[in-house]
Amino acid sequence: MANTSEENSGNLKKQLAKLFEASLRETVPSKHDVEPLVAACTAKFGDYQCNNAMSLWSKIKGKNTDFKGPPAVGQAIMKNLPPSEMIESCSVAGPGFVNVVLSKTWLAEKIQNMLVDGIDTWAPKFSIKRAVVDFSSPNIAKEMHVGHLRSTIIGDTLARMLEFSKVDVLRRNHVGDWGTQFGMLIEFLFEKFPNFEDVNERAIGDLQAFYKASKQRFDTDSAFKERAQKAVVCLQGGEPKYRQAWAQICDISRKEFDKVYQRLGVHLEEKGESFYNPFIPGLIEGLSNKGLVQESEGARVIFIEGINIPLIVVKSDGGYNYASTDLAALWYRLNEDKAEWIIYVTDVGQQQHFDMVFKAAKRAGWLPAGDCMFPKASHVGFGLVLGDDGKRFRTRATEVVRLVDLLDEAKTRSKAALVERGKAEEWTEEELEQTAEAIGYGAIKYADLKNNRLTNYTFNYDQMLNDKGNTAVYLLYAHARICSIIRKSGKDIEELKKTGVLVLAHPDERALGLHLLQFAETVEEACTNLLPNVLCEYLYNLSEYFTKFYSNCQVVGSAEETSRLLLCEATAVVMRKCFFLLGIVPVYKI
Ligand code: ARG
Repeated sequence: MANTSEENSGNLKKQLAKLFEASLRETVPSKHDVEPLVAACTAKFGDYQCNNAMSLWSKIKGKNTDFKGPPAVGQAIMKNLPPSEMIESCSVAGPGFVNVVLSKTWLAEKIQNMLVDGIDTWAPKFSIKRAVVDFSSPNIAKEMHVGHLRSTIIGDTLARMLEFSKVDVLRRNHVGDWGTQFGMLIEFLFEKFPNFEDVNERAIGDLQAFYKASKQRFDTDSAFKERAQKAVVCLQGGEPKYRQAWAQICDISRKEFDKVYQRLGVHLEEKGESFYNPFIPGLIEGLSNKGLVQESEGARVIFIEGINIPLIVVKSDGGYNYASTDLAALWYRLNEDKAEWIIYVTDVGQQQHFDMVFKAAKRAGWLPAGDCMFPKASHVGFGLVLGDDGKRFRTRATEVVRLVDLLDEAKTRSKAALVERGKAEEWTEEELEQTAEAIGYGAIKYADLKNNRLTNYTFNYDQMLNDKGNTAVYLLYAHARICSIIRKSGKDIEELKKTGVLVLAHPDERALGLHLLQFAETVEEACTNLLPNVLCEYLYNLSEYFTKFYSNCQVVGSAEETSRLLLCEATAVVMRKCFFLLGIVPVYKI
């Protein structure tokens, strides 16, 4: 989906693909639309590989060709490559793989350019201008649970990656702030607090307990139930008193949600379900006129091919539901927000819901039929958070976990670890606090993001706060160590960027350099496939390449000091960008 017409200055794979595209056209002029298949390779023959020879052979064999088999096609592809400074050497292996060894002079030059011009020059370039990321999206007066935490963490990363790629991202918090339960909550509020205007979160205390109590009242007292049902009508009719009570309840929840967002450093724009409510009747009308909506058991539904249950868009009592709201929201995002890619981050349990909404939108002609075309809607599903017992994550009291407490616990633990290492004496209280936050919250985020999102993951403080292994702590320390190498050299790194020259002479320098240059294609892949774990894996490997380089190549005091300091700096810059994209605050001292 990336725009190939523009130069992809940072993207090795794309640049090679361009060269191979030219070669393929030259090699088999009759097949001018063959897409180059270029992949990074792990074999010792090269850095990248072009895999077109085999499939191309099967297309041309027996059709008046001079080639004798795929290896010959491979040879020709190699020979026809336009000359490029990028490539040091090529070879053909096995059944026709064309292996490319990149020039280390070229690689070094690209890294140095990045150091001077900034890492934004390595940002992916996408053809779309605007995207909506619908994430976090908790429900008013209900617990914001670990599922919402995952959505918040994953959604923020996806938004960050798109923003880095210069896509305008609307970070939407699709808060559950509408529905019949509000009648009950409002009525209960009136009853408990006759002067409800003055009520604040302190008076109500725990909004969830309030919800439970009102629900109990609703279930057991028929007079109350009746009043609650009338309250829904008043609320939906826009009566000021009811509107105000509703707004107040939303506000109390919002303050609680904000505590989580503030800790995580996540920014969201709230456009809750209520926002889309006024659009629903007109939309259903429009869909009905198109013949999409049918009556079924008193409800109005849309049938979706291949799915045995229909999408209910008007309930049998005439009310709207989650699906009607999502249809309206999708319509709004496409037509009013003018978003070309709409991304929904929720647990996998909602996959079918989104599948049906998207298919309904395709039937309505809002979205193109093909999945690769824009505008596009994507559901980003994720698995459960498990406790050590392998069951759904809960605290000991089998109550649901308060997210704020969960986050604070990580911070407290990481602070304790820092104090144990004597940092309380060494650092100011502020430094200690900030580092504890960066590590604690970073650990929770990274533990979530490093797994393929579709798998369940086990929430375990000891594991995520371990300073060894694939954890945020280990990576943050690795970054701090690089910063300290540079500091201890006593050299002005800004000056070195201008006057020094980066050289990739040692094999471990070269391997690190190549990995650095693979940053752009990694972010692009993570973004295109909506898989943050791809970036985590890259970051972890980066620290491994660095360790290998640092163990085998002396930096400070060596003849290659300037070049190696530049390589250290480039590593630190790329690491920091990875942290940034993962929503993790880097630390500079350990
Ligand atoms: N409020 C929903 C929940 O807690 C998530 C909403 C996701 N977004 C959407 N457009 N349906 O499960």
